[in-house]
Amino acid sequence: MPQYNRQTFDQVMIQNYIPANFIPVKGKGSHVWDQDGKEYIDFTSGIAVNSLGHCPDEIVEVLKAQSEKLWHSSNWFTSEPTLALASKLVQHTFAERVMFANSGAEANEAALKLARRYAVDNYGYQKSTIISFKQSFHGRTLFTVSVAGQPKYSDGFGPKPADIIHVKFNDLASVKAVIDDRCCAVIVEPIQGESGIIPATTEFLQGLRQLCDENNALLIFDEVQTGVGRTGYLYAYQKYGVIPDILTTAKALGNGFPISAMLTTTEIAKSFSLGVHGTTFGGNPLACAVAEKVIDTIANDKFLAQVNRTSALFKAELAKLNEQFHLFKEIRGEGLLIGAELVEKYQGKASDFVKVAAENGLMILVAGPNVLRFAPALNISEQDLSQGIERLTKTLKYFA
Ligand SMILES: Cc1ncc(COP(=O)(O)O)c(C=O)c1O
Repeated sequence: MPQYNRQTFDQVMIQNYIPANFIPVKGKGSHVWDQDGKEYIDFTSGIAVNSLGHCPDEIVEVLKAQSEKLWHSSNWFTSEPTLALASKLVQHTFAERVMFANSGAEANEAALKLARRYAVDNYGYQKSTIISFKQSFHGRTLFTVSVAGQPKYSDGFGPKPADIIHVKFNDLASVKAVIDDRCCAVIVEPIQGESGIIPATTEFLQGLRQLCDENNALLIFDEVQTGVGRTGYLYAYQKYGVIPDILTTAKALGNGFPISAMLTTTEIAKSFSLGVHGTTFGGNPLACAVAEKVIDTIANDKFLAQVNRTSALFKAELAKLNEQFHLFKEIRGEGLLIGAELVEKYQGKASDFVKVAAENGLMILVAGPNVLRFAPALNISEQDLSQGIERLTKTLKYFA
């Protein structure tokens, strides 16, 4: 038995997670091995993070090279990798200005603070309302968790930040009913991830853009999960053709090296003037060097076209499995962020499927209690995909 094992978790870790019974020790591409040497196909990418697979050679190279140059210098000094990555993000998106942080929650915290500060600077303190959507997820800081529409995550921590309104996702009328000139921002996930892979409709996002413009409110797209190629576009806003004022990105940006960014325009960025917001690690040279290589690889038409082909193949395989087993009510999502909602009989039981899949050598995720979530590496090979599908077949057969 290895010195540190699953029981160690229960002895020394705070019990806010219940991790799987196996402990991954090595990964390469779409394969993972546990402490016993058992091999798994990874359809999770660490929750849409390792989008180029585990330990990709070209990124390992970049990380090694940067690790021999400069690890950290703080924001009292900038660094070449920081500037290179920011320049690439500006080049490939609507944004003119970038600020780095370390997690999705921090990027969203920055976005919400920026929206509030921009409103104060330009319109006054009365413009403070933030509109967000029921079942949304934006992170676990007190501000982001309060803005997100899931009381089960935000209740029980004392008073919440004020002036936050939650309305129905994909329902423009419910936004129209509450938005007015006191609204400083609307924050939305183009595809609600954690609550079940629910894509926004184009009309909804277009309507939000229009309502924000009419009320001088900023439109924030939380692309923490949908960004960096996951939907078959570098960012999902490019698929929808709706340009936000602020965009947040994290997860896949560093392929597993923690980094996030908030993107915006020069005009809005003025409200984060000297000393208004900050972070020790944001823009760290190691993280930025890695992320620059990630962006170079993914912001490429050929790469993204392949993501869309793999998506079509994956969805077709899921549809075939459903003809055989009839376990899914709906298969949905964009690119390689795919949700399969379970039929009535298995509602609430998505995590049972995850356990059986692991026994069959397959890593999958849930998105809420009723939905299986598939987020394989964007560059998964056809061979690894079909091997994973075989293991999924075995898993579904167990329940059918
Ligand atoms: C849409 C969205 N926003 C924010 C977050 C929070 O990111 P992090 O866990 O890196 O703080 C997540 C994480 O799942 C997410 O899916």
